[in-house]
Amino acid sequence: MSDLFSLLRRAPDVEAPELVAVDATDRLLLDTAADLIAGCGPGELAVVDDAYGALTLGAVALHGAQDVRVSQDLLVGELALALNAGRTGLTGTFRSLPLGPELAAGARVVLVQAPKALEALREIAEVVAAAAAPDVTVLVGGRVKHMTHAMNDVLRDSFTDVSATLARQKSRVLVARGPRPGAGSFPRSQRHPDLDLTVCAHGAAFAGTKIDVGTRALLGSIDRMRPAATALDLGCGTGVLAAVLARSRPDLEVIAADQSAAAVASAAATAAANGLADRIRVVRDDAAATVPDAGVDLVVCNPPFHVGAAVVTTAADRLFAAAARVLRPGGELWTVYNSALRYKPTLTRVVGPTSGAAQNPKFTVTVSQRRP
Ligand SMILES: C[S@@+](CC[C@H](N)C(=O)[O-])C[C@H]1O[C@@H](n2cnc3c(N)ncnc32)[C@H](O)[C@@H]1O
Repeated sequence: MSDLFSLLRRAPDVEAPELVAVDATDRLLLDTAADLIAGCGPGELAVVDDAYGALTLGAVALHGAQDVRVSQDLLVGELALALNAGRTGLTGTFRSLPLGPELAAGARVVLVQAPKALEALREIAEVVAAAAAPDVTVLVGGRVKHMTHAMNDVLRDSFTDVSATLARQKSRVLVARGPRPGAGSFPRSQRHPDLDLTVCAHGAAFAGTKIDVGTRALLGSIDRMRPAATALDLGCGTGVLAAVLARSRPDLEVIAADQSAAAVASAAATAAANGLADRIRVVRDDAAATVPDAGVDLVVCNPPFHVGAAVVTTAADRLFAAAARVLRPGGELWTVYNSALRYKPTLTRVVGPTSGAAQNPKFTVTVSQRRP
């Protein structure tokens, strides 16, 4: 086992000595499911939210799984799985699919790395219960400190029998059996009359159908943003910024980009719900990788928070670097962040001259002008 695991990397995600590609939850899930996986025929194992491929490749190499179906919300995880498969000679042993009926149809074992958001777990449970085999066993693993009783309750809404294993190395597995197929409740939608906007959200999308306070702060500055022919909503989530931008500027070409599958599906649904489907091009990519260099005039970004103080390059830094790359000289990046984070020096270094545009004790909105 250690041989396979020692070959796995996080790339293209951030790599640092304290960040691992395989964690105790991956190991516990694979150990707990060993006999169940060994009893699966080809195509009967599905994996959800494998971080970097340890679950999928571990199931194949260690327990003989064949034709594994895998859904990963994060594109960096999907890319890392493909790279790790190449590195370990296991390319072609699995298929990457969206979270939907094709992933779960007829599955008899489903391994899940517990997502952060409870609603993300609810959507996974609904999708699996609706399509898996009646004798399916779902194993949801996570760090004990991140697991709550609410997760058992969410699983009980879609499965009749839910139990927990003993913890090992601070990880635990919830086991669900007895699927209760239902109609499924995603994407959800909510009308926001104050903004005259309908927001649609899949389970793993940031802020759900609500509008984040940081997003609201950035929306308050939209009228002050420079005239532009093309704009990018970088890390678009449910696509609120893209939708309001497109609607407020009828000639603007808007791209909404996110690496999360839930986010892009939500942003596309939000665009359609507001009659903006032909105005917003939604793309799933990592840090706007599909957007050409110096291709846009305006970038709006509500970046993710830090992933950890020890990490050299944060997720936000990656997005700022992406904004610098895709902006034309003189183009503007408008961003919002928690006032405690003090991103101004970074923005100035990475993008160009940066000034405060709005501030309250919680949030700071800045505008950075791309230096020539
Ligand atoms: C704080 S949320 C903001 C979402 C949305 N713009 C809003 O204001 O509600 C940050 C978003 O950035 C996305 N994100 C994080 N890292 C990314 C990356 N490397 N490439 C693309 N999107 C990323 C996340 O998936 C998430 O949807």
